[in-house]
Amino acid sequence: MKKIFIWLFFVSLASADVEKGFDVYKTHCAGCHSVKMEGSMGRDFNLVSYERKKEDIFSYIVDPAGNYKRFGYSSNAMPKIALKPQEVNDVADYIDSLQKFKKWMKKN
Ligand code: HEC
Repeated sequence: MKKIFIWLFFVSLASADVEKGFDVYKTHCAGCHSVKMEGSMGRDFNLVSYERKKEDIFSYIVDPAGNYKRFGYSSNAMPKIALKPQEVNDVADYIDSLQKFKKWMKKN
């Protein structure tokens, strides 16, 4: 049920804004996630962008505790951050924009 709500949230939002997403990133995520492969507590968002679909990135931000197992983590250290749905959409779009080529585009 929760998943359906997250999905509805996701599709009902206005189109995302990558520049606003970068501002959200700087304010709320940069303490734990790098974007130039400097390394930090959480994964660099280039790796996330390459491996994850935007809707999964969105779900993780909305509910880290409910998603960490599905993402392959054995524990959850990322807090749930109080963001507006539009801010989540913008930052998810920003992360998605970092890598143009995605893992699932590979054919083998
Ligand atoms: C206090 C540190 C911290 C902050 C702040 C933080 N994260 Fe995280 N994040 C983590 C850690 C640690 C993980 C690894 C899994 C876990 O502990 O939940 C993670 C995992 C993730 C994942 C899953 C990555 C993957 O591909 O496996 C996404 C997506 C994510 N964070 C997005 C964000 C976004 C977007 C923000 C800002 C709005 C943010 N995080 C803020 C620490 C943080």
